[in-house]
Amino acid sequence: LPPVVTIDGPSGSGKGTIAKLLADRLGFTLLDSGALYRAAALAALQKEVDLADEAVLTQVAKDLDVRFLVSDGRLQVLLEGRDITNEIRMERVSMAASTVAAIPGVRAALLQRQRDFRLEPGLVADGRDMGTTVFPDAPVKVYLTATAEERARRREAQLREKGVSVSLRDLLDDIRARDAQDMNRKASPLAPAEDAVELDSTGVGIEEVLRRVLALVQE
Ligand code: CDP
Repeated sequence: LPPVVTIDGPSGSGKGTIAKLLADRLGFTLLDSGALYRAAALAALQKEVDLADEAVLTQVAKDLDVRFLVSDGRLQVLLEGRDITNEIRMERVSMAASTVAAIPGVRAALLQRQRDFRLEPGLVADGRDMGTTVFPDAPVKVYLTATAEERARRREAQLREKGVSVSLRDLLDDIRARDAQDMNRKASPLAPAEDAVELDSTGVGIEEVLRRVLALVQE
């Protein structure tokens, strides 16, 4: 099987950025597993499904017609052929994704789809349970963290760049709520794999984090 580098961690830890840069650097495929859960959540919201109805949500995940395209080095997410790249980043989709992701049937329905990304010459997989559940045999596992305050500041800067202004206080509340929901659920709770290397990126620049992860890959 092709090698996998797993990058797990909480919201805003910089996983997405690092995973993308790493995949580019190594020439590996990128799996943004969060985008898969976000697409499932958006499909459920569009169908106006009750987010407490596990059976229906599991069926939505099974039927999910989602595709990932890379154009101009940017990941594009299509739901039933429609571009949902920006829509899935909205806060209401983030929270719904976290709710939908807590359902064991949904996670089971998406498991094989994630494993199908393991193609030659290798994969960088970004998520919450890449190292614990989806690719437990991955040779390199990273668990990226940062304090909640730092993660909220990063999200604010990202949003500001897009011309969106939100209060840091609200972002911090959102991050804490999603952390709590992701860590306390029964199905694949957010936690480092036993053999993961933990990296705290608080106050550490992207280039330096990337350098440290590359060093692990090249070990
Ligand atoms: O970018 P951010 O870290 O905020 O979120 P994401 O990685 O896109 O994931 C969105 C939500 O999907 C998370 O809050 C998790 O609840 C869920 N998720 C998951 O359960 N397992 C994964 N492998 C990836 C995401």
